[in-house]
Amino acid sequence: MHDFHYRGRELFCESVPIREITKKTGTPVFIYSTKTLVDHIKKIQRAFRSVQPIICYSMKANSNLAVLKTLVREGAGLDIVSGGELYRAKKTGCDPKKIVYAGVGKTNREIEEAIRYGILFFNVESVPELKAIERVAIRLRKKANVSLRVNPGVDPQTHDHIATGKAESKFGLEIGTAKKIFLNRNEFPALRFCGIHVHIGSQILSGKPFVEAFWKVLSLIDELEKEGLEIQFLNLGGGLGVIYSDENPQTADEFAKNILPLFKGRRFKLVFEPGRFIAANAGILAAQVLHVKETKLKNFAIIDAAMNDLIRPTLYDAYHEVWPLVKSETASKKNYDIVGPICESGDFLAKDRHLQELREGDHLALMTSGAYGFVMSSNYNSRPRAAEVLVKGKSFFVVRKREIYSSLVNGESTPKFLAKRK
Ligand code: LLP
Repeated sequence: MHDFHYRGRELFCESVPIREITKKTGTPVFIYSTKTLVDHIKKIQRAFRSVQPIICYSMKANSNLAVLKTLVREGAGLDIVSGGELYRAKKTGCDPKKIVYAGVGKTNREIEEAIRYGILFFNVESVPELKAIERVAIRLRKKANVSLRVNPGVDPQTHDHIATGKAESKFGLEIGTAKKIFLNRNEFPALRFCGIHVHIGSQILSGKPFVEAFWKVLSLIDELEKEGLEIQFLNLGGGLGVIYSDENPQTADEFAKNILPLFKGRRFKLVFEPGRFIAANAGILAAQVLHVKETKLKNFAIIDAAMNDLIRPTLYDAYHEVWPLVKSETASKKNYDIVGPICESGDFLAKDRHLQELREGDHLALMTSGAYGFVMSSNYNSRPRAAEVLVKGKSFFVVRKREIYSSLVNGESTPKFLAKRK
């Protein structure tokens, strides 16, 4: 569900005609709906209200401060993966006791900042990482909370690049190794082992792989409890799939119904890290057609957004629907590849789409771009990054300005020997 819809011929976000936004900001521009963001976090909160989990929005999906603040105001915690994300998290005023920190590599500086900030726990993925956290904690004379990420070896049936729970992936610890670490926890006196983490992948459409993974984790917990070890938190990761075209993903309610019975009678607190489920359908990327190029084999609509703005089609062959900002009543339909101006044949946003006949100056929306959109954008081909806008009801706010040419060289400097002419 989302709040992008046509009123008459015009595409609106909530109560704002999107053309009104693009007239003000230009294109390309990412546009997010407050109502959809809030609706999505509420859906998870409602589905799981019987167990009151800690819902840590996975901010890698979309870390614009206005988006984060929208969710934190609704009670969300945050799942972070870098010092940069911690920096953003601090700016949102999120309670540190609702921040969890994942990722296979953390620098000493990042570990120190997170310990000092008093986050809920680190999700740890290897013994060397545990040792690094232990060393920093000892230096700071503090205890650090850790939760071990296990790799349950299940196939989440999603794109290979976003599957993390398979045995051969770089993520997590084998269950046997995790058990050994828990049992030998006294080797790490500065660490408090408080939980288990499992995240098997992203854009997972059915409950089956989740249930399979959680069963494996529960039997580990049983074994640990037999040894007198109490698990305080079970972090179930993220991964809930969304609709890009004709997928039929489980709803939050169905997900809850599927998995909650597994945890009946258990004392640990559940933690979730949804990213895509909250942000994907809450955003679009609006762009303008620069040229229409018709060849014998194909029609290309060359737009002012490119793979540097939205890399998902290039990277994962991802499908994003293309909607016109203004529907024509009369135009006939044609097939188009929607491509960007970047000098790579991989620079496409959509292929072979049957759309109303396009003309220079027309505007299009690449739907479902709220997650892993702007955050994965780059300056490739020295293209300034797009603006971001947040809509709320009848109003809209620029929440990140479009970059300008001088932003492109910000931080660069010319060594003296190049300053003089040859
Ligand atoms: N927790 C952990 C430890 C993760 O690694 C991720 C995502 C999440 C939570 C959130 O997963 P979600 O609920 O969004 O599925 N760039 C890719 C997706 C990469 C996902 C990385 N990890 C894409 O555009 O499809």
